[in-house]
Amino acid sequence: MEVMKTVAFYNNKGGVGKTTLTVHLALYASKVCKHTVVAACLDRQGDSYRWLTDGEGVRGEGAHRVNPKLSAIYTPHAAPDIGPAADLVVLDCPPSENIGVMVRPNIWVVPITERLAAENLYNVIEDLRGSDAEIILVLNRRGEGGRRQLQKMIEAVSNVKKTTYYERGIGRADAIVRITNEFSDIWSDPFARKIKEDMTEFCKYILRRCGLRSA
Ligand SMILES: Nc1ncnc2c1ncn2[C@@H]1O[C@H](COP(=O)(O)OP(=O)(O)OP(=O)(O)O)[C@@H](O)[C@H]1O
Ligand SMILES: [Mg+2]
Repeated sequence: MEVMKTVAFYNNKGGVGKTTLTVHLALYASKVCKHTVVAACLDRQGDSYRWLTDGEGVRGEGAHRVNPKLSAIYTPHAAPDIGPAADLVVLDCPPSENIGVMVRPNIWVVPITERLAAENLYNVIEDLRGSDAEIILVLNRRGEGGRRQLQKMIEAVSNVKKTTYYERGIGRADAIVRITNEFSDIWSDPFARKIKEDMTEFCKYILRRCGLRSA
């Protein structure tokens, strides 16, 4: 067993891909890399829990076994206390000004899109001020337009300590919407070759940054 690492997906702006990326990282790490993974849904909406449990409602707060190496839990009221039982914990976080003190990850992954304004990132950084963990900005839906906005955003945070920008990002693809609606994953999609590669590379990158095996 490796030293447990926690990756929290956060942005105070909605609809940027937190849930999509949480689910894919959890599946990749557990199925491909055989890490022991817990995917915790801190968002009251329960989207990542519902996705990983194939649409099951969010009634109980017990753990649901997704595959032999992955459990999903719904913990909308508090950060989960996982203990050292997992190699990796991924957290799908709700928008909250206190998130930086509520949750103590090793890495924050902040999905951004080309259309967001720089103010969004100032707010994110403000929310995370209670934390000294690394922040990785990931461009999602790359190619959607708004590159000038994006440039401004990147400039806005380039002087913030411990913040890196994952440039390759993840392309915009209709297949993502399809698999979201089917509670499936991009690697099960018969088409969508490019986006599969994007997602795989993203997952490997985050695992490497955690010091965990990435294949
Ligand atoms: N790369 C992408 N290309 C196309 N559509 C995408 C992509 N990433 C996410 N989406 C779509 O955007 C929508 C929002 O994604 P998601 O639910 O992951 O965001 P979120 O940040 O968790 O949102 P919320 O704030 O509601 O929790 C979903 O319908 C999803 O299918
Ligand atoms: Mg979500």
